[in-house]
Amino acid sequence: MPKTITISPVSRIEGHAKITIHIDDRGTVKDARFHVNEFRGFEKFCEGRLMWEMGGITSRICGICPTSHLITSAKAGDDILAVTEFERLGGETYVSTDDGSLGEAGFVTRVLERKLDKYPCAEVYACGPMPMLAAVEQVCGTRNVPLQVSLEAHMACGVGACLGCVVKGAGHSDQAPNYLCTCKEGPVFDAKELDWGRAVATGTGCPQGGCR
Ligand code: FES
Repeated sequence: MPKTITISPVSRIEGHAKITIHIDDRGTVKDARFHVNEFRGFEKFCEGRLMWEMGGITSRICGICPTSHLITSAKAGDDILAVTEFERLGGETYVSTDDGSLGEAGFVTRVLERKLDKYPCAEVYACGPMPMLAAVEQVCGTRNVPLQVSLEAHMACGVGACLGCVVKGAGHSDQAPNYLCTCKEGPVFDAKELDWGRAVATGTGCPQGGCR
């Protein structure tokens, strides 16, 4: 008969926590859960920091279980990159960071160029900051490689009414404006639909002009 073992309270932790262990008919542990009140802690000094700094920071904010904080922040970083997810799907996964603290040092476009040398008939799907997407578009555009990008924008209405999320579309000019709503017409666009020339020329790398 299934049963649940509860350990409560768990000591040596600030606040209240409990552990539940769920056991099935055959006496096998099916699930084990750690319950603890969540709260938003020292997030301010995390804002704007590089993701891979978090392991060093989070392991120092708790004097009781620094290892747990280190592992958790490392797993969170892993989730952000979705490295394990891609690996589980069987894809070749490459990581590049500006300073080489994770994966290869340098811009992702360097890896992309290498991969496109090897797989010239590939299609590229990209998401991330607009300067990076603009650089990816330049690489793919030069090689005539199909590219789709997933844009991010502040969205107020989400239905195409407020025009707060518009980006400049291909052929946009002051005389013939061509704005596209990220919420309604995107967020995934074929790269050919967007005004990348302007985005790169303005130096913001952003058709919207606001993302940096
Ligand atoms: S969020 Fe309002 S138009 Fe897109």
